[in-house]
Amino acid sequence: MTDTQAIVFDLYGTLYDVHSVAQQCDASFPGQGMRISEMWRQKQLEYTWLRSLMGRYVSFEQATHDALVYTCRHLNFELDEATCATLCDAYLNLSPYPEVPATLQRLNNLGLPLAILSNGSVFSIDSVVKNSGLQTHFANLLSVEPVVVFKPDPRVYTLACEALGLSSHQILFVSSNSWDAAGARHFGFKVCWVNRRNNAFDELGATPHVIVSGLDELPALIGTAQV
Ligand code: LAC
Repeated sequence: MTDTQAIVFDLYGTLYDVHSVAQQCDASFPGQGMRISEMWRQKQLEYTWLRSLMGRYVSFEQATHDALVYTCRHLNFELDEATCATLCDAYLNLSPYPEVPATLQRLNNLGLPLAILSNGSVFSIDSVVKNSGLQTHFANLLSVEPVVVFKPDPRVYTLACEALGLSSHQILFVSSNSWDAAGARHFGFKVCWVNRRNNAFDELGATPHVIVSGLDELPALIGTAQV
């Protein structure tokens, strides 16, 4: 399995730490930052999956906004419009995981095109990547917008094959979200699961080809029998 021609990354939770918003949440709701951030992320994901099932696509920003409104209502926290806007904006300024910038550079040096395929809108993905100064590393930033449905719908993974002009088995897909890694494996990508927190992999009938505990383990694996 050494025919990898490109590497495609998930964005939220894989390259960028979604819980970097916990700090801003904490500033608005002292002592509650991580609690809000965790429920917010879980609801955000659920809303993307549910809207895909209902055939009622909204942008990732809208799903993120709606998930925050729900979370605060559920926790009985009053969310005024200005705070809501500030916290949603924090999602456009996420921090990359510490090992990410240097690893992207090492992967660039290997000569393989790198891309992002994310549930985010074009605007969200561009903002997050540009705000962190990492845009030069990527050949393509791919959003679900053209197919108006979210991962793990196979139509989303197809976008990467089309944009890169490659078949699924020539693409290594990298995600920390095990439901996304499972969807990508079912689609036919080679899959690397980034398991930073020693989590259990979801039971969805597909397993990754390779598991790493941080992105920095990836460059040494490229070209090996595993990926
Ligand atoms: C993404 C989310 C699902 O970037 O992590 O697509």
